[in-house]
This record gives sequence, C-alpha cells and structure tokens, in this order.
Amino acid sequence: MSDDDAEPGDDAATESWTDGGTVPVGVKLGSTRTVIALPDEDGGNRIVKSLTCMATYEDALTGEEKILYGEEAAREYPDRVQYMLRSGLPEDADRAEMTKTFFEAIIEANDIPEDSGVVYAIPTIDNPAGLENLRSVIEESSIGQELVESYPESLCGSIPAFGDDLEAIDEIFVAVNMGSTNLEASAYRRGEQLAPFTTGAVTGNEVDRMIANYVEEETQGRVNIDTQTAREYKEEHADFVDFEPFTDIIQQPGGGSHEFTIERSVMDAVNEYLDEAVDELANTFLPELGNDHMKVYQLALDQPIVLTGGMACIPGIVEEFEERLSEELDREVEATAADEPADAATVGAQRIAARLVENS
Ligand SMILES: Nc1ncnc2c1ncn2[C@@H]1O[C@H](COP(=O)(O)OP(=O)(O)OP(=O)(O)O)[C@@H](O)[C@H]1O
Ligand SMILES: [Mg+2]
Repeated sequence: MSDDDAEPGDDAATESWTDGGTVPVGVKLGSTRTVIALPDEDGGNRIVKSLTCMATYEDALTGEEKILYGEEAAREYPDRVQYMLRSGLPEDADRAEMTKTFFEAIIEANDIPEDSGVVYAIPTIDNPAGLENLRSVIEESSIGQELVESYPESLCGSIPAFGDDLEAIDEIFVAVNMGSTNLEASAYRRGEQLAPFTTGAVTGNEVDRMIANYVEEETQGRVNIDTQTAREYKEEHADFVDFEPFTDIIQQPGGGSHEFTIERSVMDAVNEYLDEAVDELANTFLPELGNDHMKVYQLALDQPIVLTGGMACIPGIVEEFEERLSEELDREVEATAADEPADAATVGAQRIAARLVENS
C-alpha cells in the first residue's frame, strides 16, 4: 500500500461522517510527499501519506493503462516513476494532468469523501503559472464539494505548534518552512502573511545531493548512491543530538558486495544546511521584515519562531537552530516546532477546515 501509517479503505470511518454531513479535510500536495488528514471514527485524525509520484504500466491481459502511485511506484518502477511536483508546483499542463491523476488515485484508494470541506496548505512560491496549475488540480478534484479554501503552508504548519486548536491564528510570529525544494519564511499577524521570503538555494533536496557527494568522498570513490538513497540516509540517521555512524552494503556490479560505514557525510550536509538557513534568515529575511514592519518584527521575535516542514523533523534541529540564530543575531531568540513537523501543515489545514465547516 502507498500510505505509511493509515488504515486504507476504512469504510466505517468515512461512513459515520458522511451520515453526519460535511467532512473537514486537510491536504498538502508536497513535492516529496502528499499528506491528507481527516477525522476518524474515534474523534482522532486519520493521516494518509504518500510519496508524490506515480508510474503507469500496461495491464498484461487487457492492455489497459494502469496507475501506480507513491512508495509502490517508486520501488517497482524506478526507471519510469515521475515526481510531478519535483520543483514544488506543477510546472506545465502535463504535470498538472499527472497530479490530478495521482490525486484522484489516492482519494479513491483511501475513501476520502466527496462531501467534504477541504483546506489546502499551499507553498509560498513566486511562480504564478505553477500556482495556477495547482489551482486547477484543486478545483477539478472530486473532493471538497462543500467548500475549498487554501492557506499558506507555513501558517498551517504552525497551528499544531501553538496548541490543540487554532491559537496560531491569533498570534504574531515568524514561521520558517524547511521543505524539499524551498526554504520559506514569513511573519504572521493574526493569520495575515507579511514579508514572505522564499529561496530555492537552501533545501532538503540540496542536502540529499550533498550527502551523495560526501558519501563518495568519504568512501574514496568506492560508493556511489543516488539521491533517493541519500534522502533515506538523512531521514533515518540525521540527528543533532546523538548521531551514530551507520553501515550499509552495496552490491558490486560484477558480483559480491561491499560494506561501508558513514561517519561524516550525513551530518556535514545537514550542518551546512542549517548554517545556510540561519544565514538566509538572519541576513535577508529578518532585515527585510524589520524594514517593512518594524513593530511586527519586534513582537514576533519575542515569540518562538516556528519551524515547519520535513527538514524540521531532524532530532535536535530546533535547539540547534535557536542557538545558531541567537548567535548570528546577537540576541536570544527561541524556536519551536509541532511534534510531527512533516505532517503539521496538513493537520493545521484540517483544523481550519473543521472550523470553516462548522461556521458554514
Ligand atoms: N524524519 C525526517 N528527517 C529528516 N528529513 C526529513 C524527515 N522527513 C522528511 N524529511 C525531509 O524533508 C523534506 C520534505 O519536507 P516537506 O514534506 O515539508 O516538503 P514539501 O512540502 O514536499 O516540499 P516543498 O514545500 O519544499 O516543495 C525532504 O527533504 C525530506 O527528505
Ligand atoms: Mg512544502
């Protein structure tokens, strides 16, 4: 199955809601992963997660085109799997079409109800054509028949970091979204986004490329890994608190295998990433925010800065960020994150959806 930890096709859960009316759903279509949150039958959340990728194949008996998506597609069809949001948004009409197909497949496989109010967490990227393509995916999807809204990803991701409800919407704070294709920072004043800043230079994908290069160096050229493997190393092993060297084995093309140990490659890459992120914030984003909105800048820096996005999952990154940014700014700043930063934007979007459905 293509989802990490949800119970797929849990009919009972959806039925109890369809009987009662509109289901509030949160969605993030991310360049690496798509995450959907909706209520389950015990008043909790059901979270559906999948790699944002798909592959098609021809049915061997009927010749029909079949679709595979997520982890299954990545594992079984590495030669032709497509990551249609690789750059963060659907770049062209073809990729928008593929995204629609992918999204409908995941909706169907997980029984996401059509009678729903859906809030989408949308990346802040200055790419009007890409955003327009994303809008077409959202508008043409089968879910959200009652209501469709979108909110900035970093605002949505901050909601679970502030409390169990929508406290973040009443606050003034800075949010930093650490994603695969972008580093994004914005200030929020009661939900209003101020001084949005985005760079494609400091990213989770770049970390993966660095890890792949460093592994080659560290093994004196004996080991070449692809960026997918590098991402897995990062997700499993990167840790600012207690990183442990780890071993892996590669099969040699001529037969036999080679075992190697990685001591530095992963942490060198994430350390550089964090330094660069702190540098962009301290020397570009925050000065711009201070220039445009001096008062908001002061109020926001008295609050913890909220880290969101998948790269904020690395253990200890919040404390390390706090320390490095305080040093760079020469003043004490605090930072915080939701328990599950990679899911936080979707969970926040789902809470907004619940409120909007309730009010409508
Ligand atoms: N547990 C983890 N440890 C380390 N890195 C992680 C972990 N989980 C996810 N990541 C990394 O976070 C990044 C994905 O973050 P996120 O899901 O927020 O991105 P996205 O929304 O798909 O991308 P973007 O907004 O940049 O287009 C990837 O680089 C991924 O490898
Ligand atoms: Mg993102």
